[in-house]
Amino acid sequence: MMKSSGLGIAITGSGSAVPETAFDNQGLTQLVETSDEWIATRTGIKERRVAGINESLTSLGTQAAKEAIAMAEITAADIDLIILTTSTPDDLFGSAARIQAELGATKAAAFDMTAACSGFIFGLVTASQFIRTGVYQNILLVSADILSRWVDWSDRRTCILFGDGAGAVVLQANQSDRLLGFEIRSDGTQNDCLNLPFQGEPQTLIPGVEISQGTYRPMTMKGQEVYRFAVQKVPEVIEKALHRAEVAVDKIDWLVMHQANQRILDAVAQRLKVAPEKVISNLAKYGNTSAASIPIAIDEAVRAGKIQPGDTIATAGFGAGLSWGAAIFQWGR
Ligand code: UT7
Repeated sequence: MMKSSGLGIAITGSGSAVPETAFDNQGLTQLVETSDEWIATRTGIKERRVAGINESLTSLGTQAAKEAIAMAEITAADIDLIILTTSTPDDLFGSAARIQAELGATKAAAFDMTAACSGFIFGLVTASQFIRTGVYQNILLVSADILSRWVDWSDRRTCILFGDGAGAVVLQANQSDRLLGFEIRSDGTQNDCLNLPFQGEPQTLIPGVEISQGTYRPMTMKGQEVYRFAVQKVPEVIEKALHRAEVAVDKIDWLVMHQANQRILDAVAQRLKVAPEKVISNLAKYGNTSAASIPIAIDEAVRAGKIQPGDTIATAGFGAGLSWGAAIFQWGR
């Protein structure tokens, strides 16, 4: 039964790219007072990738996009729209159009959108609206972040968590509707839990005309509050999306959550009564790659032959905003 009142959507390709340089927990002990044991037991993270001077949001995003386009068996020229979800563009005016140019996706409109670590879910939902309404047939969603540019590398409460990377999927108009349900939420009253704020100094241009100029300050986070928020809200939003999808929790083949902390993944799975072997985790290798974490995890599982066509996947993102959301879909056409 078709649950939505629009055209069908399928996710037909995935791709991912991470920087070359791996930075392990042992290496971090040279920067801050920490240990491999503390990081591994509190988060599940063993190492993360960090982008070097020759790598960029555009280059990682483009690489992930090329793989997704190839898997979907379309060409860049077929793409109608490119949405890049990122909090760390190479250019504040946006990086989606740079990716469009690198791909040669000449027909595609391209724009950036920001929903922090929920970027993939919010991007997926946004992209799907253009297909539901019949406006576009082929959409490339790239979710990428280079948080190493903005992490405070002297703050052991945050710098141990994050890594860089890019993931991408292709969404296509499809006869059968594979996007079964979603729910997205925001709570700006808790905005101060996770910030990467602009901080300006007053500057007087001419008498009576004062502006503020400066730059973005390194990330700040209230870790325990974000932890509590995630463990409470993520199960709720997944249940809501499952309800909309008319899918029972025991029919989920894979649970792919934003890779923030293994303890969060375990707690959410336990609360939903999802078996641990259905929970996809690559935290140990990449840490928290922000918007990129869900599509990287999906892409790896697809290429490893874990996720198969027709499998039912529950995805959930959460993070700064605060924002959170879930989407339920079946893989492939
Ligand atoms: O995309 C969303 C992004 N954010 C998140 O998902 C973050 C969610 N929060 C978390 O994952 C966890 O709260 C953290 C991993 C950030 C922290 O774990 P925790 O179990 O909540 O630790 P804590 O903040 O309660 O700190 C416990 C102790 C403290 O020492 P005292 O005050 O008890 O003496 C910290 O100072 O651990 C200390 N500590 C560290 N020790 C060694 C904090 N960071 C470190 C560290 N190495 N890197």
